[in-house]
Amino acid sequence: MPGPSPAPGSGSPGSRRTPFLWGVATSAFQLEGSPHADWTSWDEILSAKPTVTNHYELYREDLALLRNLGVNAYRFSLEWSRIQPREGVWDEGAVAHYQEIIDILRRDNIEPMVTLHHFTHPLWFIKKYPWHEDASVEHFFRYVEKILPALRGVRYWITFNEPYVLVLAGYFEGCTPPALKNVPLGVRALKNILTAHAAAYDIIHAGCPDAQVSVAHNMAALAPWKRWNPLDKLLARVAKYFYNHSLLDAFLAGSLRIKFPFKEELVIPVPIKGKLDFFGVNYYTRIHMRFNPFKKMGVEMRHLDIDGRGLTDMGWEIHPRGLEKVLRYASALDVPLIITENGIATRDSQKKIAFMKEHLDAVERCRERGMDIRGYFYWSLIDNYEWLQGLDARFGLYRVDFDTLRRIPTNAAAYYSYLIKNRKF
Ligand code: BGC
Repeated sequence: MPGPSPAPGSGSPGSRRTPFLWGVATSAFQLEGSPHADWTSWDEILSAKPTVTNHYELYREDLALLRNLGVNAYRFSLEWSRIQPREGVWDEGAVAHYQEIIDILRRDNIEPMVTLHHFTHPLWFIKKYPWHEDASVEHFFRYVEKILPALRGVRYWITFNEPYVLVLAGYFEGCTPPALKNVPLGVRALKNILTAHAAAYDIIHAGCPDAQVSVAHNMAALAPWKRWNPLDKLLARVAKYFYNHSLLDAFLAGSLRIKFPFKEELVIPVPIKGKLDFFGVNYYTRIHMRFNPFKKMGVEMRHLDIDGRGLTDMGWEIHPRGLEKVLRYASALDVPLIITENGIATRDSQKKIAFMKEHLDAVERCRERGMDIRGYFYWSLIDNYEWLQGLDARFGLYRVDFDTLRRIPTNAAAYYSYLIKNRKF
């Protein structure tokens, strides 16, 4: 296996001279679970109970896999519910645990990118201060304020992973905590989450002026089911604005514009204008939309295998061109872009390799066109717990045997190492 590529940080952070970040991404709960998180107590709304990879115990072995791969960056998250298991109670051991991970990464010349919030919450938080309550912002702020001086050696921060997915799942679909189906509360929750981003951005910069801070925004290619159908086209356009663009506009203008059909546009001020040093894009797939009066809000969504690449094990379309599109949208922000997640659930290594190759070709085309793309993080290092699918979705470069917990390299791991060594970005 190749050795590590040059460590980032030879230039000033985020400067043109900083080497391209070749990374993999994970999230704490998906690898290590937590006895104190809201997720474990929501078994009734999940089809599978989270059984995970024991990463909390096996982290040293897993970090050694990063060295084997030769990545120079690693995105991972802190599990807030381990750090603050009860209101007002801090577990210094958990903080020390995450610091040790950072120290190992630094020793190995691997740039840590730390996500403060990746979908899960402490149980006490979601029960007493769910995001639609304004007090949520204050509690998140206290967590960030606590963790920041305690963690040394981190320059890249993601405040929230996929704020829109968090709100859509928790307040529109009602399939994740707080499991509500309430649009106005969802809008309030989104406003509070973005306000919490702004607060976190400010304290991170107060402690570390050259920190690089962003959210990771899930962006999708959204298309009409039937191109000739004006209603499908309209739907896809509205969805594209809301899902992909409205957050970009909020960073540019400092307000969220939400338009419900037949209602006046809602303009909600959010204090996030310019609070972004780079922009994290998570991209996986394309979704086709059609108007169907028998479905919720008249919308039906489907993955269609239009290009004949086959669907993933989760039934998602493989559509590398979509990555080019969303990167083009995101470049309107005029900050460097980093692909903070891109990956495929499949047991077929050849398919994983083709996925990776074609998406990195798309990144290369974007860079050739002059887009400022500074990094790519494959999701994920090892197989893990996939939120609504459990353990069947195999995203890992390393396969996990969930009976023995052995990590077994797939051919895609060797391929990624090869790309890192030979692809000149
Ligand atoms: C999330 C990950 C998830 C992946 C695949 C992303 O949207 O950030 O947590 O595992 O999608 O579904």
